[in-house]
Amino acid sequence: MPEQLDQASTDQNRFLFTGDHLDWDRNAHRLSASEDYCWYSWPEQVGSVRRLADYRFPAQILPASRLAETLRPERVDELRAAIDGMSKNDGTSRIGYACPWTAESVRRGSADLVFSQAALQEIDNPGANGALRRTFAAMAQWLKPGGIISHQVDLGMYGAEPWDRHWTYSDATWAVIRGRRPNYINRQPLSAYEGLCREFGFDIARLDVVEQDIATPTSELAVGFRTLSQRDRTARAVHIVAVKR
Ligand SMILES: C[S@@+](CC[C@H](N)C(=O)[O-])C[C@H]1O[C@@H](n2cnc3c(N)ncnc32)[C@H](O)[C@@H]1O
Repeated sequence: MPEQLDQASTDQNRFLFTGDHLDWDRNAHRLSASEDYCWYSWPEQVGSVRRLADYRFPAQILPASRLAETLRPERVDELRAAIDGMSKNDGTSRIGYACPWTAESVRRGSADLVFSQAALQEIDNPGANGALRRTFAAMAQWLKPGGIISHQVDLGMYGAEPWDRHWTYSDATWAVIRGRRPNYINRQPLSAYEGLCREFGFDIARLDVVEQDIATPTSELAVGFRTLSQRDRTARAVHIVAVKR
């Protein structure tokens, strides 16, 4: 991590690191950072958030001409109005907010893209009719043929060491660890997401796997996880892009 930060600082601040370091506080109505979700160093994180105040939009991603179009005052006003109208939830706004969402929240066959960032791993186990399976079914229902899903999924046990510790617990112990949390990591490996893509008619167009060395010996894994393949065992995170047939 320090090497990456050093690299970024010598690279004319071109890169903005994303992740858990900044969030929107719904109660305080402001941007916020949380020491509870700081996985590296709180002083570094505070410093990095402070630097954002002077951060210029990365021109290599959207050049000035494109930015000028994107930030056209009429467009910004239209989006502001759409965001204001969103809470009316009367279907007149281009932007909607559905929380909690259901399969009916989005019109069938109407969506071009469904994306998520570090969220699918918190949707419950597949199982016969688990929430993760229902989520894939819903995405398949929402998308037009040729529509795209793009999901970044964290496959490890974040906030704990070692990263693959979540596979050591029996289902009974995991139920106790999970407690009454409405959502918590589902412990599914990479192959489970690939299987769900296949099952619901998605052709995987791109799969970027972040690999990490196995930290927990197989003998320490719970019975249900001992047969995980080497590929599943070393897949720490994945970005899946898939196309609806
Ligand atoms: C690890 S956080 C990631 C938040 C943010 N996307 C990011 O990358 O910083 C996981 C998020 O998934 C959301 N989540 C969990 N289950 C969900 C579900 N069934 N539907 C929608 N969101 C869900 C949680 O509320 C939480 O905000």
